[in-house]
Amino acid sequence: MLRYKVGEPNLFSSVEIASKYSEFFKSKSHAVIPSAPIIPDNDPTVLFTTAGMHPLVPFLWGQPHPEGKRLTSVQKCLRTDDIDEVGDECHHTFFFMLGNWSLGDYFKRETIEWSWEFLTSKKWLGIHKERLAVTCFAGDSDAPRDDESARIWEELGVPKKRIFFHGKKDNWWGPAGQSGPCGPDTEIFYDAAKRSRECDQEGCGPGCHCGKWVEIWNDVFMEYEKTKDGKFEKLAQRNVDTGMGLERTAAVLQGVENDYETDLFAPLIKEIQGLACEHDVVSERIIADHLRAAVFVLADPRGVRPSNVEHGYVIRRLIRRAVRHARKLGASKEFCRQLGEKVISIYGNSWPELIRNKQFVLDELETEEKRFNETLERGLKEFEKLAAAGTGISCDGAFLLYQSYGFPIEMTAELAKERGLPVDEKGFCLCLEKHQELSRESCKQKFSSGLADQSEKTVALHTASHLLQAALRKVLGTHVQQKGSNITPERLRFDFTHSEKVNAEQLKAVEQQVNAWISQGIPVERREETLEKAKAEGALAFFSTKYDERVSVYTIKGASKEVCTGPHVSNTAELGRFKILKEESVSAGVRRIKAVLEK
Ligand code: ALA
Repeated sequence: MLRYKVGEPNLFSSVEIASKYSEFFKSKSHAVIPSAPIIPDNDPTVLFTTAGMHPLVPFLWGQPHPEGKRLTSVQKCLRTDDIDEVGDECHHTFFFMLGNWSLGDYFKRETIEWSWEFLTSKKWLGIHKERLAVTCFAGDSDAPRDDESARIWEELGVPKKRIFFHGKKDNWWGPAGQSGPCGPDTEIFYDAAKRSRECDQEGCGPGCHCGKWVEIWNDVFMEYEKTKDGKFEKLAQRNVDTGMGLERTAAVLQGVENDYETDLFAPLIKEIQGLACEHDVVSERIIADHLRAAVFVLADPRGVRPSNVEHGYVIRRLIRRAVRHARKLGASKEFCRQLGEKVISIYGNSWPELIRNKQFVLDELETEEKRFNETLERGLKEFEKLAAAGTGISCDGAFLLYQSYGFPIEMTAELAKERGLPVDEKGFCLCLEKHQELSRESCKQKFSSGLADQSEKTVALHTASHLLQAALRKVLGTHVQQKGSNITPERLRFDFTHSEKVNAEQLKAVEQQVNAWISQGIPVERREETLEKAKAEGALAFFSTKYDERVSVYTIKGASKEVCTGPHVSNTAELGRFKILKEESVSAGVRRIKAVLEK
């Protein structure tokens, strides 16, 4: 076990850490790019932005970025995969990721040297070198051990005994299970010995879950492409993608025991404690994390509200879980507005969208809380009845709690877990599917948020969705605007404004129009320009926000022109036959089409 005698770290506020990060990489010729929205602009393959690299995927694939080859950002991210771990010291749904990127420019040496300089130099963060340890990729049959990174660390003075090697599970980053750019990474850990409980695990080191080792930075070297048949081939353009968690770094630099004691959370936790009758660390953290996340998602330019679908359902689940935990703490009935205000007061200066959309955010928090309060009490009683048998919650029971009392499945699962009871979650999903409330796929994946899928099929369906929008506007009128879109490798789903059912004849005309464009074999062209110019030239742009921003515009001559980050196929001839499967209503004034491409 490693233990070091060290002094206190520097005390920096989280705002200072973020601005030092930008300042440092600016001094290394990086362009500071703004955070992308948390609900990705025009990326129908994922619900949320999950990492700083996420909005940069097309550029990591080789598309030139308008700001150059060296970029840095502070990105708002939401990952719901780790939601069950929220409540510990360092897991969150929403978090800020500091990142720097090289798009075919510098590689391992500069990346590692700069990470080290930024972390340890007195001019920057001034973390004691003895507190740091690193991990590198151990190598396997797909790619060799990353000795180059290890050597650079050694040259910088990191002793061999503090350089650890791990396999793909820990030291490899890239599209999980999909094809695309990927590569080994080297991770930097802080030895938080001060807050560690003594760890008696054999070989405790970075990666041990004892709480002593905090991963603060991940430098990914994207030098491979995972091909469709699962091989790893060297990429022509080698990229660097790094991610440093602001919350964890703040905990280190503020010398506190966990992320919730940093200036990012402490005032919010205090407010929660002031509202509660009981003290429970885990519940307090869950409320703080979930409401902070809900505030940021509600404040996103898309203006999504709590609902039973997609992003809205994630917001609903976050708020409802927070309400349930607040109830557990004996908090007074309505608290979401007050805590929402607190979140906005902590972050509003750095994130002006919170101030701009304050009214909307607070009203939505309050409405959702009220709505849930109407059924929560009775729902909890019903749960107690169902739990009384002691055998677990059946799928029908879970469905009743969902349907009649608005309990998301995780909440039922969490309540059951507290009593050591199982829940038939699989059966619940089938029940849902039967009731066509949500598809099984959305039930299972609603809360997970992987990387953007860039498979061939998904890309083709993405291009088809542009043609669909153009055809709908041609057949139904230019009032048609995209309201949402979701694409899996199997099908596209496209929501749009239109006040009545699209009849069979109209659907046929839309389908024929899309297929006509496909058979014409029209090239798909990409150009970069300012949003203002793109709009002036008639490009559709329903989600972008900043006029001076340079955007990419995809044109399919004679058919469609849209602001979009892509990627797309290069010619419509690649698409196959377009077929509409279904047309239905989503909400007042919004219709939905599901369609596929057949070979
Ligand atoms: N994309 C890498 C991560 O999220 C840096 O860890």
